[in-house]
Amino acid sequence: MQNKDDFRYEDCEETARWLLDRVQSPPVIAIICGSGLGLLADTLTDIKTFDYVQIPHFPTSTVAGHSGQLVFGILQGKSCVVMKGRFHVYEGYPLWKVTLPIRVFKLLGVKVLMVTNAAGSLCETYSTGDLMIIRDHINMPGLAALNPLRGPNDERFGPRFPSLWDTYDKDLRSTALEIARRLGHTDLIHEGVYCMVGGPNFESVAEARFLQRLGADAVGMSTAPEAVVAKHCGMRVFGLSLITNRVAQAYEMVDSVDHTSVLEVGKQRSNVLQELVTELVKSINFK
Ligand code: 6GU
Repeated sequence: MQNKDDFRYEDCEETARWLLDRVQSPPVIAIICGSGLGLLADTLTDIKTFDYVQIPHFPTSTVAGHSGQLVFGILQGKSCVVMKGRFHVYEGYPLWKVTLPIRVFKLLGVKVLMVTNAAGSLCETYSTGDLMIIRDHINMPGLAALNPLRGPNDERFGPRFPSLWDTYDKDLRSTALEIARRLGHTDLIHEGVYCMVGGPNFESVAEARFLQRLGADAVGMSTAPEAVVAKHCGMRVFGLSLITNRVAQAYEMVDSVDHTSVLEVGKQRSNVLQELVTELVKSINFK
């Protein structure tokens, strides 16, 4: 049984209809901008912007550096929708609410989801300011039943037991690698495993060591729920992490991570990330 706090297909439909009535062309690509990475939205043309608070059934964002706007427009000749600011579990939202925009995007006609985030590096060879194409994820909350697909399944979106083996689209990953190399970013581009934790605290040293041993290359507080829901409803997913800091895995290491420094690195490197996402959008051909 669904209660009024559960996700409702009809609410997503209502939101999608509300948006479709107000935009010129339905988007085919959705881009979610992580902390300090929202400038991409300013490069769209023919834009139409909505504050989250205006949109029926939409949650509103509470974190500094996440502005809370949905921007529709054209990027590289393609109709896109950009989320400036996303919703996190640590803000107190249930996961169905965190991922509600993805389901609305599906109903708008979106085929490809691109997700960016700020993440801490657990990998020796990654430096601050590097980029990591997400090859796969470890959804820590998901493994412990904090999963956006928990609860009654609506077959109109996807199956009860979806496979995640090819969540992060292979073609998009290899194209992004090629683009990064062509743009001269060979030294700062990586491909690796993103681990999602609930936050809002950064990891303890013991936790960081634990995650590194599990096979995680980077750690952050978002993305996995959105990717799971997008895969569930049949979208192609591309994920990109901006490495904003090295995570201390020894007590002797100085750990200077805080939200301000995360935003600062985001600002410094947002142009590289933007360039890569823009070129990737350009490369996509819809049959
Ligand atoms: Cl070190 N940890 C987590 N969980 N999220 C982050 C981060 C670290 N750096 C940026 N985002």
